[in-house]
Amino acid sequence: AIDIAKLRGQSGLITLDPGFKNTGSTQSAITFLDGEQGILRYRGYDIEELAEKSNFLEVSYLLINGELPSKTQYERFSQRITTHTLVHEDIKKILDGFPSVAHPMGVLSSLICSLTAFYPNSLDPNNTQEEIELSIVRLMAKMPTFAAWAFKNKVGHPVNYPDNELDYCSNFLKMMFALPAAKYEADPVISKALDKLLILHADHEQNCSTSTVRVVGSSQASIYASISAGINALWGPLHGGANQSVIEMLEAIKADGGDSKKYLEKAKDKNDPFRLMGFGHRVYKNFDPRAKIIKKAADEVLAKLGIDDPVLNIAKELEEAALKDQYFVDRKLYPNVDFYSGIIYRALGIPTDMFTVMFALGRLPGWIAQWKEMRENGEPIGRPRQVYVGPTQRPFVPISER
Ligand code: ACO
Repeated sequence: AIDIAKLRGQSGLITLDPGFKNTGSTQSAITFLDGEQGILRYRGYDIEELAEKSNFLEVSYLLINGELPSKTQYERFSQRITTHTLVHEDIKKILDGFPSVAHPMGVLSSLICSLTAFYPNSLDPNNTQEEIELSIVRLMAKMPTFAAWAFKNKVGHPVNYPDNELDYCSNFLKMMFALPAAKYEADPVISKALDKLLILHADHEQNCSTSTVRVVGSSQASIYASISAGINALWGPLHGGANQSVIEMLEAIKADGGDSKKYLEKAKDKNDPFRLMGFGHRVYKNFDPRAKIIKKAADEVLAKLGIDDPVLNIAKELEEAALKDQYFVDRKLYPNVDFYSGIIYRALGIPTDMFTVMFALGRLPGWIAQWKEMRENGEPIGRPRQVYVGPTQRPFVPISER
């Protein structure tokens, strides 16, 4: 066994692995991912089966607690979440401070972080099991409210309060789309499709945002602060922000005459910074199982809603062309989860700059489960090393002599 005390203070060997391409940061029992074979499992259950037979709250329970809930456990879990959907009225004042041009991801991460102020007890690293459970319930319950409010701020409409008679997704849709003095009822086709999308995004082991949540949490910061940091990490276009970039890219191709081949060539040109958004993945080198399910769901949803989206045809053309192109084949670049998700979000009426917020809504139980596992394992503070390449020691020169 390694004697940690003896090693303390010694500089030892440092492995240099930019982007942590081959460095494991933890042992985890939450999500299994085989990038070569395109397998994704939450707590041992195949993603295909969960997407088909389960629902988002049940999958959330599974991720957070490790086992599928009994009927009573499920009812208690959903009931507790429903009870906590309302947020403190003062949070509306924070929301009001944001200009309408504010990106909803920035608003969402700020509102989640503001929970540290409304529940300061969460700052105590010695929270009891019961207190941690309550924080988790609050997060699951209030996230849809914040997400919908971030949208309302953007469009300049009054916010809607949660409707606790509704299921998780229908409540969210109502808070997003209901307008004063107009009746709104979420279409069950849309609620169901949204629920499936959330399941597909619910966890994905040690990706950028999840690692962020674990690293921030490892300093014993509050769970709210840790999740808020995860939201910010997800925002970037190389991670969750890709779903927004995909639709923007497809729209740009459409506006430019719909020539997908031209853009395929641009993506291959090393002197051009353009990348085919929604293509490639750090771990999946064969196919992304989530992309397969989403592609099928996109076809179904568009057919059910009677939508003919020309952007879907461009996406399909791009995929077909890329799968036959040696550049993409050699580098094992396939459509990832974000390639088709934006098309469904659009069909569901979700505006483009809310796409990454939808991803965050889905990823929340995964972040929570990973934060909880990190704490329960008593993992040390995350603190990577470096290889210093700056100047060696130099004498200080006073400003008058420089
Ligand atoms: N278009 C064109 N070329 C690409 C693309 C792309 N989308 N993705 C990777 N490549 C090329 C790179 O230029 C590189 O080529 P080279 O070997 O000739 O230099 C090679 O493929 C390997 O790419 P890396 O960037 O080294 O791979 P990495 O694992 O670091 O990056 C990433 C993975 C970030 C997902 C990348 O494929 C990418 O930028 N994709 C587009 C953005 C995207 O869709 N992100 C969402 C990811 S899924 C998610 O976060 C939920």
